[in-house]
Amino acid sequence: MRALVIGSGAREHAIVHGLLADSSVTAVAAAPGNPGIAAEAECLPLGDVSDRAAVVEVARGFAADLVIVGPEAPLVAGVSDALREAGFTAFGPSGQAAQLEGSKAFAKDVMAAADVPTARSYVATDPDEAREALDATGAPYVVKDDGLAAGKGVVVTESVDEAMKHALSCFASGGSVVVEEYLDGPEVSIFCVTDGEVIVPLAPSQDFKRIGDGDEGPNTGGMGAYSPLPWAPEGLVDEVVRRIAQPTIDEMRRRGTPFAGVLYVGLALTSAGPRVIEFNARFGDPETQVVLARLQTPLGALLHAAASGELDQQPPLVWRDDSAVTVVVASEGYPQTPRTGDEITGVPETADDRYVLHAGTARDADGTLVSAGGRVLSAVGVGVDLAAARAAAYGLVDGIGLRGSQHRRDIAQAAAEGGVAVP
Ligand code: AMP
Ligand code: GLY
Repeated sequence: MRALVIGSGAREHAIVHGLLADSSVTAVAAAPGNPGIAAEAECLPLGDVSDRAAVVEVARGFAADLVIVGPEAPLVAGVSDALREAGFTAFGPSGQAAQLEGSKAFAKDVMAAADVPTARSYVATDPDEAREALDATGAPYVVKDDGLAAGKGVVVTESVDEAMKHALSCFASGGSVVVEEYLDGPEVSIFCVTDGEVIVPLAPSQDFKRIGDGDEGPNTGGMGAYSPLPWAPEGLVDEVVRRIAQPTIDEMRRRGTPFAGVLYVGLALTSAGPRVIEFNARFGDPETQVVLARLQTPLGALLHAAASGELDQQPPLVWRDDSAVTVVVASEGYPQTPRTGDEITGVPETADDRYVLHAGTARDADGTLVSAGGRVLSAVGVGVDLAAARAAAYGLVDGIGLRGSQHRRDIAQAAAEGGVAVP
């Protein structure tokens, strides 16, 4: 099997890494990829991952047997549809199905129809409606940009003024907002691989969305993650598939827009049970880095089965007993105004239990590795428990040099110390 990955982040690097370990995969390429991927696999030029014709051309040139579309933007733009129309086997939902991520209002509508537990919510299209919705939910306020915002379009605040300010900025850029009830409890991400009918859930993980230690500061795309979750209630995954993922997938099929790919279920584990915070239409970043570090089942075969409607024949997944932790190294100024073009030093050779995945990196004219985005690197450590995995990941981070870079020191710390609990 010749496998092509579309995208250039650490998630795509993790997928490439996973595919290379699958003996049924004979060739792996990424388009456009990044310097880290280039050290392990072929990188093919691609100017715009959302350019449907350009992606099809790259797939043709590579003679891909499987194309995995990593990020949300090309999925929402219908890149999977274009690939399938051209005869390729594509892992990733259609543009219409990707609206589960592309529009929070659409996702809420599907959840209501499928009776999926989620936060009570209101869609507001003008300041009066926003103010009314904020009065109805009360503090803490949750205001979400309705469209794609790379995880940064959400403001959670005790201040009604700050909540209104975010709503007004969304209206100013022509959008609407979703105002919703605040959900209390630890967050969990569960990736549900699906062919549109059958669901194969992956191991749960937890992401750290805020920029600063102790969950201070603005939301980011994700600053670190770990798996497994030693504190998760028994039967959590089964319950989430039964109450949330399966009804959602069934509802999408009923509407004539089946969802095949990975349904990312973002949850809050509240005292009243799991509640959906968000759906994404793709693997999460950085959660993928830790989930795939633990998956022993061949990745290419699993994703190919999902892309071809054959998940009913998938044998049960096999997981490493080990724990995995990833810590994101971000550039100075992220998430508001990331600085780029700084030299990166200290990235070691890849080892089995510790390796550095690339995200926003580039080679400058003389081949020096430099920063080229907000989230620059994702250091992955694997160990017998979370403490050992943390030590491995932070060992990598401490060796990396990047002027002004930021990372959290507390990824997986509370979980490693037994300090996470469901209310
Ligand atoms: P989203 O883009 O919808 O995942 O939101 C980003 C982050 O905002 C989430 O990971 C949560 O930390 C927080 N958040 C979103 N919705 C809620 C909610 N209803 N209650 C509490 N926190 C939320
Ligand atoms: N880590 C959150 C996301 O991928 O959306």
